[in-house]
Amino acid sequence: MYSYRNPKEPNRRQTPDYRLGLVRDVLTNLHRGECVAVVGVGSCGKSRLLLHLTRPDTMEYHLGNSAYNHFIVLVECNSFIDQTNWAAYEAMARAIDELLRNANHRTLNEMAEALEPMYGMVSGDRDLAFKHLLTGINYLLKNTGLKLTICFDEFDFVFEKFDAQLFRNLRALRNQNKYQLSYLVATRRQMPHQRPQTQQEEVEEFYELFTSNTYGIGPYETRDAQQMVSDLEERYEFRLKKVTRDMLIDVTGGHPGTLGAAFRVLVDTQQQPTTPDQMGQLLVRNPTLWKECDKIWDSLREAEHDALRRLALNKAPTREDPAPLQELKAKGLIKPVGDRGSLVVFSPVMTEFVRSKV
Ligand SMILES: Nc1ncnc2c1ncn2[C@@H]1O[C@H](COP(=O)(O)OP(=O)(O)O)[C@@H](O)[C@H]1O
Ligand SMILES: [Mg+2]
Repeated sequence: MYSYRNPKEPNRRQTPDYRLGLVRDVLTNLHRGECVAVVGVGSCGKSRLLLHLTRPDTMEYHLGNSAYNHFIVLVECNSFIDQTNWAAYEAMARAIDELLRNANHRTLNEMAEALEPMYGMVSGDRDLAFKHLLTGINYLLKNTGLKLTICFDEFDFVFEKFDAQLFRNLRALRNQNKYQLSYLVATRRQMPHQRPQTQQEEVEEFYELFTSNTYGIGPYETRDAQQMVSDLEERYEFRLKKVTRDMLIDVTGGHPGTLGAAFRVLVDTQQQPTTPDQMGQLLVRNPTLWKECDKIWDSLREAEHDALRRLALNKAPTREDPAPLQELKAKGLIKPVGDRGSLVVFSPVMTEFVRSKV
């Protein structure tokens, strides 16, 4: 098989302290053998976070020497060959095959020969694909004592549509290798909301693996946002004045998709606003930025839409609002202001967008 390069791999890597608190919590839990879910709206940086997590130097930075026996492989659900359960097994086997081929690690290199046929068997035999995958992973983990995390990006459509047997099998695979094998899933919505209600019970054993370790992933905190702007400045060869840069982060609230789009507006128009008014006029109702807001909006449930709309219009919350407000808070889309516990939408651009949604 030819080896392929992940086309999404950004040239510029994150600094090791990227999303510091979140990364530390996620890795600590995975290292304990727990399964973890990260939930965040479109373009909040999930894929980038996953790439960051799968780099060996990230784990070493956070976990020191104990990182040496733990491997994280990335499975991009968007790259599944089709929408059958076999496609999931094929992608998992492919990711493990690549790990074995490329790892610079003695134990893994010793396993590589024995496991070499696994990928061909999984991909070539649709009926028995899971059995071959199970045999291969059991062999790898039982013989080495290593830890393995399989990380699924863009998991929503899989969880929504795939046959329940996939989730039973993933649970079984995990049960046979408890605390050695863990899963990390990235989704826009919190499980089980993706799946039609009548089909949630049949996959409960799977999604309950994640309930105690589900993390919301929100906009960037100042330091990560500053880092992102520095990256963009370098890539576009367009330096911002300090005041412009700070206001750019404020007006977009640090949501990576919106921040990137806003930066490109400045580049395209060759403008560097220096007052909040100028910045607001240029960006708050800008169609390119509103496309990003659309992605955020599309990632939310109806109840979240309603609660967010009331908040943006300064209307009193209803009795239904506490749960969706909690979810919005976890995803960093609303935040407290002042010391009286009031909440606001996370950015001026999004506030204006939500107001338009009446
Ligand atoms: N630190 C960063 N530097 C440069 N671009 C970034 C950074 N973080 C996020 N981005 C850009 O923001 C966009 C959204 O990030 P992505 O990881 O694709 O989000 P998600 O997977 O949640 O949709 C992408 O275009 C990504 O390249
Ligand atoms: Mg993504």
